[in-house]
This record gives sequence, C-alpha cells and structure tokens, in this order.
Amino acid sequence: MWLTKLWVVPFALFLYKCDCKSRTNITLPSDLLIGTASSAYQIEGAWNSDGKGESIWDRMTHNMSFKIMDGSNGDVACDSYHKIKEDVDIIHRLGVQFYRFSVSWTRILPTGFPSKINKAGIRYYNKLINSLLKRGVMPIATIYHWDLPQSLQDLGGWANPLIQDWFENYAKVLFENFGDRIKVWITVNEPRQMCSYSYSTGVYAPGIISEGVGVYLCYHNVLRAHARVYHLYNTTYKPLQKGKIGINIETSWFEPATSSAADKSAAERMWQFECGISAHPIFSEKGDYPKLVKYVVAKRSKEEGFPRSRLPRFTPEEISYIKGTSDFFGLNHYATLKVRPKKSLKGVSELNDIGVDVVKEYENRNKTWSFYFRSVPWGFTKLLINIKYRYQNPDVYIFETGVPDEGTLDDKHRINYFKANLAAVVSSIREDGVKVRAFTVWSLMDSFEWRSGYKYHFGLYSLNFSTPERIRTPKASAHFVRSVTKNRRFQLIQ
Ligand code: BGC
Repeated sequence: MWLTKLWVVPFALFLYKCDCKSRTNITLPSDLLIGTASSAYQIEGAWNSDGKGESIWDRMTHNMSFKIMDGSNGDVACDSYHKIKEDVDIIHRLGVQFYRFSVSWTRILPTGFPSKINKAGIRYYNKLINSLLKRGVMPIATIYHWDLPQSLQDLGGWANPLIQDWFENYAKVLFENFGDRIKVWITVNEPRQMCSYSYSTGVYAPGIISEGVGVYLCYHNVLRAHARVYHLYNTTYKPLQKGKIGINIETSWFEPATSSAADKSAAERMWQFECGISAHPIFSEKGDYPKLVKYVVAKRSKEEGFPRSRLPRFTPEEISYIKGTSDFFGLNHYATLKVRPKKSLKGVSELNDIGVDVVKEYENRNKTWSFYFRSVPWGFTKLLINIKYRYQNPDVYIFETGVPDEGTLDDKHRINYFKANLAAVVSSIREDGVKVRAFTVWSLMDSFEWRSGYKYHFGLYSLNFSTPERIRTPKASAHFVRSVTKNRRFQLIQ
C-alpha cells in the first residue's frame, strides 16, 4: 500500500520547486518597430557651450533650484553633447531599430529667432543623425521637448499667440538642415504635462503659477503652433523629403474606482481633460476641444465671475485647420489609475475643473512613484482600444513607456514592466486590430529627470553622475531589450 503512495514524494518535490506560474511565448509582429529615446535637456549638458543660448530649464534650475528635488540641473547631465560616439555605441548594442531624440531650440537658435543660426548646433545634430544612420538606426526627432528659449519666455512663451510664428520659423530651420535624413518628426512632446506643470502649478520651467488660466492659453497656442508646423511640412517639405509628422500625447488609462455612475463620469472627465483636450482637436471627426471640457470650464468660469470661459475658443477656420494634423497618434503611456470624484472643488484651477481624485492604492511613503508606475497591462489595452474607437483608428506610435528605479543594475521590475506592456501591445494589435507601429522604451540612459533631478532613473543604462567620464553601464533591462530585438520574442511569466 505504502508503495502506491510513493508518487506523492516526487510530486511534492515538484510542487515545492515549481512556482506554478503560466509561461507564454510572445512573438512580436514583424512590422512592430522597437526603439529607445531621450530628450535634449535631460542628456546633453553643455548648457552654454559653443554658442548655445539659455533655455527656460537653464534659467529655472539656476535661479530656482529649490524647485528640483535634489537641487540639481542639466548643466552637464549625461554630457551627450560630447559623447555622440558612446551614445550611438550603446544604442547600437541594444539592437533597436530607431532612436528618438529631441533638438534643443537654443543650441540651434541661441536667441530663439532664426536671424542667428548656431553652426556648432547644426554640426552636433548632423553628426548624431549620421552616426545613427551609419549604424542602421533610424533617427526620430522631437522638435520641442520642453526647453523653450528663455528669450521667448520673456515675451510670454506659450501664452503668447506669436509663438506660432516663432515655432514655425524654428521648425523650418530643422526641416531645411535635417529633413533629408529625418523621416519621422514629432512637433511637441506632451502638451498636457508641459502646459499644466509649466503654466498652472509651476513645478516645471518656467515655473509660472497661473492656476486654471495659463494652462489653457498654453494648450491653445501649442495646438495652433503644432498645426502650423504640420502644414508647413506637409506642403513644402513632405513632397520632397517623404517623412511623417505628428504630435506626442501622454495619457494614463483611467479606471473608475467603483462601478458607481459618479466614479464612471470622473474617469470620463479625467480622460477628456488629460487626453481629449489635445487629441480631440486633431484626431476626432469634428475637431475642436471635447464638448465636456468646453462645458465644464465655461460653467465654472461663469460661476467664478470670469467674463468668458478660461478655455479660449477656436474659430471655425482654426478648427478645420487643426483637424487631421498628425500622420500618427504619438502616445506616451506610463500608468493606469483608479479615479473618483474630488470632494472639494473650491478655487480656480485646472485640477478643480477636472474634479477628480486618484486612488493611491499602493502608496508607499518612501517611494512616491510606486502607486503611479505599475504595469497594468489590461489598462494599456483598454487605452489602445479607446484610441482606436474614439479617434478613427490611427496609426499609433508608442513613443514612451517606462518605469523608474532609485539606482540599481538589477532592474527586474523594469523587465517585468516592459514584458507586460509589450504583451498588452501585441495582443491589442492581434486581437483588437489596433494599429500600433512602434514601441519605445523610455529611456536610453539615466538622465536629468525634471523636478526629480537625479533621484529617479529611467535608463536602460546606468550612469555615475559624480564622475566626469559618465560611464554608461548596462542594467539587466538593457540585456533584456537586446534579446527582444535579436529574437523578436520573449517569455511572459504570469
Ligand atoms: C517625459 C520624459 C520624462 C518621463 C518620465 C515623460 O512625461 O516626456 O521627459 O523623463 O516622463 O518622467
């Protein structure tokens, strides 16, 4: 009898050894491009070298360093201005198909205006672009990733409608000098984050606190300026240069905290204010700001005693001029958040217009980012399906997704995050017919993380910021990305 029970021992051993999780092999669609990215102020350094002008981030980090968690700045950052070879080497080693970088406006136009073009700046980006191409990596350029010339900020920056001319003139210089080799252009990175943090709460440069007013002026001018540059490229450069151009929108997925009607409408409000406000004017059939956003801001403005809505109005000509001005939906996605209505809505502010609270499920006192940066693959899938149905099934280029660490080479959590997000993307392509064309790992290397300074790191490569060499050391996630680009598949363990 006891003999018949002998099988129990190996079985128990198997259970002990086995983590009993399911393993799925995910193969990437052959036309899904994999890349990585950075932005100028976060990596270049050389803030005043070779004729570069002062940007709003130079000014804010120098004069208001208290706004940065560790009081640091991007004066040297990753020193990428002097390390093209090192950067291109590590990009090449990852085996990625493209590299998204941004151009520093003041490195090209030190005064902000095209009357003075800085040859050293043109040389730097030419060298970067050519080195990438030589290694078989497609360069993708962001025209504006938050580093406005200080000279233009002194004239009002994105709150001044003249920014449409300034931005168009700057973009023209880029198309003229680099357009023969850049086949994908991003006009503006993340209107919501830049307008809200820069012109409402003031935590980003230029640090302007104009709650509920500046933020909407900024959106309005960003959308108009973006459209100007789209039309300029489309009519003058695209026929010859044959590239694509579009905008980059960051949005989380918002899930109602419960199934109550109030929570559901909070989620819809949050979506319309975070994504719809920039996406609807460009990608929807009707154009213009979302109805809900126009209604809420107009109503609240009236109650607050403003003579008209704090959200400016587009003319009918502007609505049709802006509609359809993106060859792709550039998407940055980091998180899924549970939301419910905000309790108190007193005071003029964008956040009170939105009227939503985020439920911080996994809050941890020492890791303020932990509740935000979690991979929620089903949230990513829902987001992609929503983009498909709300915005006429555009080509989607995911231009950022990533998670921070506080200094480690063994970044397993980042590998798991990328695996989960990639799997969600692949299933949204195969199961739901979403047209995702590109997946970008944010970021190539640890860099200046805006208001967090060097406290949180998003890189595949780690940097020692206290040594002048700024040696780039691969983290475990760099090896993971290398294996994905090489094999075009990976194993998801759930
Ligand atoms: C920005 C990046 C930034 C990342 C992580 C994105 O919103 O585009 O510049 O590094 O978030 O915070």
